[in-house]
Amino acid sequence: MYTLSSSVTWNKLEQLAQQTENDRISDYFSADSDRFNKMSLQLGSLFLDYSKNRLSDDIFKTLIKLAEHSPLRQRQAQMFSGDIINVTEKRPVLHTALRNRGDEPVVVNGQDVMPEIRAGLKKLQAFTDQVRSGEWKGYSDKRIRNVVNIGIGGSDLGPNMVCRALLPYQHPEMKFHFISNVDGQHIKKILKGLDPETTLFIVSTKTFSTQETLLNANTAKQWFLAQSNCPGADLGKHFVAVSTNKAAAMEFGVSEHCIFEFWAWVGGRYSLWSSIGLPIALSIGYDRFIELLEGAFEMDQHFLHAPLDQNMPVILALIGIWYINFLGAETQAVIPYDQALHQLPAFLQQLDMESNGKSVDMEGNPVDYATGPIVWGQTGSNGQHAFFQLLHQGTRFVPIDFIASLQVDEGTEAHHFALLTNMLAQANAFMNGDTKDNRQDFASCPGNRPSNVLLMDQLNPHNLGALIALYEHKVFVQGAIWNINSFDQWGVQLGKRLATEISRNIESKSADYDASTQGLMQMVKQHFARKPAAAKSNAPVTPQATAKQTKTA
Ligand code: F6P
Repeated sequence: MYTLSSSVTWNKLEQLAQQTENDRISDYFSADSDRFNKMSLQLGSLFLDYSKNRLSDDIFKTLIKLAEHSPLRQRQAQMFSGDIINVTEKRPVLHTALRNRGDEPVVVNGQDVMPEIRAGLKKLQAFTDQVRSGEWKGYSDKRIRNVVNIGIGGSDLGPNMVCRALLPYQHPEMKFHFISNVDGQHIKKILKGLDPETTLFIVSTKTFSTQETLLNANTAKQWFLAQSNCPGADLGKHFVAVSTNKAAAMEFGVSEHCIFEFWAWVGGRYSLWSSIGLPIALSIGYDRFIELLEGAFEMDQHFLHAPLDQNMPVILALIGIWYINFLGAETQAVIPYDQALHQLPAFLQQLDMESNGKSVDMEGNPVDYATGPIVWGQTGSNGQHAFFQLLHQGTRFVPIDFIASLQVDEGTEAHHFALLTNMLAQANAFMNGDTKDNRQDFASCPGNRPSNVLLMDQLNPHNLGALIALYEHKVFVQGAIWNINSFDQWGVQLGKRLATEISRNIESKSADYDASTQGLMQMVKQHFARKPAAAKSNAPVTPQATAKQTKTA
């Protein structure tokens, strides 16, 4: 039976944490002139420098032992071969199969899923080429110029982040918009500047039951029908869907050939490699979408075959576990020194926190150790003028990942040089601080604050694919060592259920709620009571309801 926190290795790490509490990273460099070379790794164009961490050789070796004694390799093999590792939802976890560029089969319930995946990619390619070439026309025979992805969580954060990161590769005559929030201001702002004749909506939702997405999709359809005189039969030229729930998509009114399916064994937050990546393919082209998958595949092969102490995802994961479980770090900062990656922290928040924000193990027993960190971040150098004060002089211990690319756009060399030198300076300042002559006053920075640096030679589809897969596998490794299920998210259901209940009960004076909730419900009720009837329709939004409205429209 795998008992993490009572293992010999775990106890050794606890001792090491005490023994080395006064160690300084800078002293490790003085003691070993080859530290940088030993504690950095290159995979393709992705370079990881992890030498500025509170890691002695002994700590590093013991962490590797922790991974060796954990179910990591076994669970890794189970994941890649389609075994059911998402035990609470009884599902395999196969986002890696979506970017499997090899010939070997991937078997789920005795069925090789690769032919289906390849067929899905073919359909994606055909549609992408048609829309990008202008062959795909709207109801008034005009080419598509605006694509609006309607989705939330994993059906938004991944494609949105990648489209923003790869803007230089975007089709010159097309624009891409992402609607996620149920707040009407979001959709209103996006729809405002659009021409229905040249707009394509992608309703992206794994389950086709997410309230926000259905409400936004319904509103988009009402807007479209009101703003255009598109015959019902031509709706399919402007509304496509990406989902595992084909029946519901058809119920909503999307024609069968306009539904891009994917599978239950793809987690929402791991789904950008599937048809959920349709906005990406439409933006950068199918071939570049494949480059994104190839970058992730390269990282998958590295993760599978590199020895643990030379394995980027494993090393990042173990450094995180050392800080979270032995040095008391509560959060993990991710600071991309690249404006194009400004949505990466938000994407990683869902990836990491929805995966490892768990407190029971695979057997359902409460864990007696910390698990997933709070992931947060913002772009550098902005962060320097916002929260770096706390990171330099505050009482919190916050490990940092810096991410940057060397390649610079024509004409912005001076800016890029400043950006990179600031990043190097910050990583150095966090490590060394400035406690010369042990001066401890308001101006001095204690230093000894760890950071990793991830450097790409260029932010292109391949390298971005590798970077995202690196973090996916880091999260996987931590989940395996913590023996938790990183692939379910039961905790999100309660709030959704209560939202439906409260929207139903807002009219009734039911006493099922605490005084605070009841009081606030009254305030909302009174506010809407002053509104015209339309605004008060509390009926939960379902595909059937929207279809009925379409029929009546
Ligand atoms: O509520 C959380 C969640 O289920 C995420 O896991 C998921 O990515 C998101 O909602 C959206 O779900 P769907 O793609 O089914 O609309």
